[in-house]
Amino acid sequence: MNTYDLIMKKRNGGILEKDEITYLVDGFTNGKIPDYQMSAFLMAVYFQGMNDEETTNLTMAMADSGDRLDLSGINGRKVDKHSTGGVGDKTSLIVGPILASLGVPVAKMSGRGLGHTGGTLDKLESIPGTQIYISQEDFIKQVNEVGLAIIGQTAHIDPADKKLYALRDVTATVESIPLIASSIMSKKLASGSDAILLDVKFGSGAFMKNIDKARELALEMVKIGKNLGRDTRAILTDMDQPLGFAVGNSLEVKEAIATLNGHGPKDFVELCLGAASILLTQAGLAKTKEEGRAMAEKAMHDGSGLAKLAALIKAQHGDESYIYHPEKFPLAKHIIPVYAKEDGYIKRIDCLSIGLGAMKLGAGRERMDDVIDMASGIVLAKKVGDFVKAGDKLCECHTNKEDYQEVIAEIGDAFILTKESFPYPPIIHEVIEG
Ligand code: URA
Repeated sequence: MNTYDLIMKKRNGGILEKDEITYLVDGFTNGKIPDYQMSAFLMAVYFQGMNDEETTNLTMAMADSGDRLDLSGINGRKVDKHSTGGVGDKTSLIVGPILASLGVPVAKMSGRGLGHTGGTLDKLESIPGTQIYISQEDFIKQVNEVGLAIIGQTAHIDPADKKLYALRDVTATVESIPLIASSIMSKKLASGSDAILLDVKFGSGAFMKNIDKARELALEMVKIGKNLGRDTRAILTDMDQPLGFAVGNSLEVKEAIATLNGHGPKDFVELCLGAASILLTQAGLAKTKEEGRAMAEKAMHDGSGLAKLAALIKAQHGDESYIYHPEKFPLAKHIIPVYAKEDGYIKRIDCLSIGLGAMKLGAGRERMDDVIDMASGIVLAKKVGDFVKAGDKLCECHTNKEDYQEVIAEIGDAFILTKESFPYPPIIHEVIEG
């Protein structure tokens, strides 16, 4: 087999065989195929696409490029929820504890934030002491004992994806459905859960800018999961405004705590309950989504979800007193309100601008090695559909930086008002159950 011939085959619209895809993935992962040839191959995929079989084979080759987590030592049906990433998305901090409190084992590998999007690992690390890198043995022990663990992915899991993603990032080949689907699903396969719920986001703060593209990606991933014997479902959710009110690490953890105390923002609560209800049916604990929703709602209000979040933090060496005393989280030095300049209904809160604004205030990373300021970010005071009068507060910007004036102006411009009344948009638009 020869890399040049395979690049040409894909460039000309040919269909690659399983052994040809494995040859490319293995060769690139172990350094035998250079970046320049893999870049050409990725661009060929970008333009020619891949059929379902090719995408499934690519996913398997990537999942097999490193270790696969063996979760057979965990009792019960393991579930995983994956979000394609967004602004203010702290759903795992709610759904994981709720499921675990109801007896569903959650063994979750999460990621860090980059650019305008946040990451669950950074949010967890805003609670002093919390460790996110633990051995596989301790990970499994913790899921058996506590019912829940959320950790970072080790270098041995899906090394092909790490190299491929880094190359895609600099060769303008990220936005390709087969490449995104195989990247996400290979990590899910390698991390071993029995059932997967994919939260595919669309809108200005998401990878997929519209619902049609999100549906295409979701259908592809659900098909791959099914082809590989995993119960895979998806929800298509709105990322045209931040999720909930808080954006930024400890600010989001505080919102998650309030939510597990029964005081969460409406859209966020709806997403958490919707996701948990589907996962409970996937886990076999609820016969219907309605039954699952009632169980999740109870755990959100009776303190059992909150107690499980505290148990997770304690097991991962964090200070769980922060969960019961969120006032302990330090506040940023500057808290700057942004006010409406005119009366009107909020038509849009540009999610990309809010995500980038939060990053510039210190809450995120432009590059992977940037250091995050856990206290900084944005707390919205209004959501899409709300009416404001001139002078009403739109949001608060939290930062420890001194040169914030320009960013604050950009954040203010993210709020678009209209004179017409505007309906509150739903959060979950579609459920794809395969
Ligand atoms: N998230 C991933 O893990 N991979 C992609 O390609 C895009 C989003």
